[in-house]
Amino acid sequence: MMKIISTIPDLRAQINEWRSQKKTIALVPTMGNLHAGHLSLVEQAVADRVVVSIFVNPLQFGVGEDYQTYPRTFEADCEKLEKVGTHLLFTPSMTELYPAGMEATSYVTVPKLSNILCGASRPGHFKGVATVVNILLNIVQPDKALFGEKDYQQLMIIKRMVADLFMPIEIIGVPIVREADGLAMSSRNQYLNAEQRAIAPALWKTIDKMRLESGERNYTSLENQAMQVLAEAGFKPDYVAVRQAQTLELPTAADKNLVILAAAWLGKARLIDNKIVSF
Ligand code: PAJ
Repeated sequence: MMKIISTIPDLRAQINEWRSQKKTIALVPTMGNLHAGHLSLVEQAVADRVVVSIFVNPLQFGVGEDYQTYPRTFEADCEKLEKVGTHLLFTPSMTELYPAGMEATSYVTVPKLSNILCGASRPGHFKGVATVVNILLNIVQPDKALFGEKDYQQLMIIKRMVADLFMPIEIIGVPIVREADGLAMSSRNQYLNAEQRAIAPALWKTIDKMRLESGERNYTSLENQAMQVLAEAGFKPDYVAVRQAQTLELPTAADKNLVILAAAWLGKARLIDNKIVSF
């Protein structure tokens, strides 16, 4: 049976019991509305006990973003988590995680990585992500935590934070789970109407076609071409960027571990995708 716990004292009591039994613990943080992408994180968590958190974190939503309308499907989420063998579901309230209030709370920023790419379009977003992940890691104190490569910049920011703050936790990145037509699974895909849903796979197809391996080193020209293809398909592209895979800095000609990242609006949905390329 999966336990559902909402308060920090109750959670700590359970964690302490498992620790005294020498159990290893993995954490999978989520905002709920779970799909196969989230569940693959739980399935790939190799540990004696798997803790999943569901918390729609207001601190990472900007003014005018979808905090109020973000889909909340608690009952269905519980069923799915139970099926994939979750031991504990942590569902804290806002006051539980931010007792001082959102404005006054201490925060964590990972400066360089947070202001570029998605951070440039969503000011404060990654400060909210780093802060809540830091809080969750401190509460649960897991041996490892799993995050999807779908949110690639987020994963790099969390790895940087955990390294910089010497947190004794292994951060594991899990490959993107896609729909049959290539669209990366996301809660925000629900914002698409039928026509937009038919266009959406072009985001993945476009970056998948950028053949960095082929020897083309004028990345700016590849990026611009891809942006144009997306615009013609009906997207409002935010960026297509070829970056160094770890630092997300501009690659030099010698860099061979790269990532192509893209973000584009399609109607009400801001879709993101990426492809890791090593050669
Ligand atoms: P959320 O969007 O709910 O995603 C939770 C985790 O699932 C993240 O690590 C995300 O990268 C992963 N994920 C989502 N879609 C995926 C897919 N198609 N394939 C593989 N993994 C996927 O990301 C967040 O929540 C929040 O920012 C959070 C880290 C919980 C902090 O609030």
